[in-house]
Amino acid sequence: MTIYRRDLQGLAGDARLRSLAERRGIDFSSNDYLGLAQSNRMRAAVVRALDAGVPVGAAGSRLLRGNTDQQAGFEDAAARFFGAEAALGFGGGYVANFAVITTLPQRGDLLLMDALAHASTHEGARAGRAEVASFRHGDVGHAEDVITAWRRAGNTGAVWIAVESLYSMDGDRAPLDDLMRLADAHGFLLIDEAHATGVFGPRGRGLAHHLEGRDNVVTLHTLGKALGGSGALICGARVLIDFLVNRCRPFIFATAPSPLMAAAGLEALAVLQDEPWRQATLAGHVTAFHDQMARRLPQVPLSGSQIVPLIVGPNAETMALAAQVQARGFDVRGIRPPTVPEGTSRLRVSLTLNATRADVLRLAETLEDLWPDL
Ligand SMILES: Cc1ncc(COP(=O)(O)O)c(C=O)c1O
Repeated sequence: MTIYRRDLQGLAGDARLRSLAERRGIDFSSNDYLGLAQSNRMRAAVVRALDAGVPVGAAGSRLLRGNTDQQAGFEDAAARFFGAEAALGFGGGYVANFAVITTLPQRGDLLLMDALAHASTHEGARAGRAEVASFRHGDVGHAEDVITAWRRAGNTGAVWIAVESLYSMDGDRAPLDDLMRLADAHGFLLIDEAHATGVFGPRGRGLAHHLEGRDNVVTLHTLGKALGGSGALICGARVLIDFLVNRCRPFIFATAPSPLMAAAGLEALAVLQDEPWRQATLAGHVTAFHDQMARRLPQVPLSGSQIVPLIVGPNAETMALAAQVQARGFDVRGIRPPTVPEGTSRLRVSLTLNATRADVLRLAETLEDLWPDL
């Protein structure tokens, strides 16, 4: 037990000890961007499915008894919606990222990640077969330099460039079109749309919508963020999806996602089609918050999206500020290393439809009031 206790004491000494806190205050921290998780339509869709006899659990791996009509139907609908040839469901985005990265890039390939790639990408890189390198955040020139050096060393394999279309802790976008040009010359582009799905693109089809359907593009759409449920979809060429079905161990040796989540996912896609006001209202929240912040705290850089990191720096100061904001009724959380790089601890303000426009304006006012002189 000593090593565990000592580790926790070390974290506490560094103001990095985490614990599970209750949900309290107005939601400025979830990823339920469109407010779907508790919406009547999603609730009704799940109840309808239950009433129609859809089982609660899939009861097996997809390759055995677990292949339900709901899951297969949802994947077909999602592939059509996002514009991909095929889609495959996973229990969550973390496992989907890990699964793809450990299965598709082969020995002799290069996995080239943005430096701020999600933990699941890093984990996949560690466990996978490909050589691994990273490039400076958002820096396509650097990505190209890394590839050139790798080629010069005699490597002929494919390069898998892994990025997030909208970065989870920074709220900025990847230069997808420039990265696509690199991928066209050298291999594949893996695009994690976790925080863009539902929020950006035509009817929420994501920031990479115009690239979907290409042979060398693989996207990840999570269901647990703007789509209000849980699980994830990998979208790509049919041959790659068939390869995952045959070779992807986290897919093969796992119970399939609940068919109720497929019913919820299908409804979420219908909501995106029928209720564009959700996307528009969120965009309005983003503009209002940015306008207020630019006026009230002009020294704080802003992201331009629904994820707004307010960088404080030191861990203890960040958590103290978060506690003060929470005490005023806003659920804003502090984010510390290793989730973000050392010295960049921050408040991560997440704008969702679970807050009203008036709440958004009051939060900006509160931040101005409490913001420390750094
Ligand atoms: C960029 C990114 N990818 C993947 C994931 C994992 O998705 P899920 O929460 O569905 O496991 C997250 C979640 O935090 C994320 O931010």
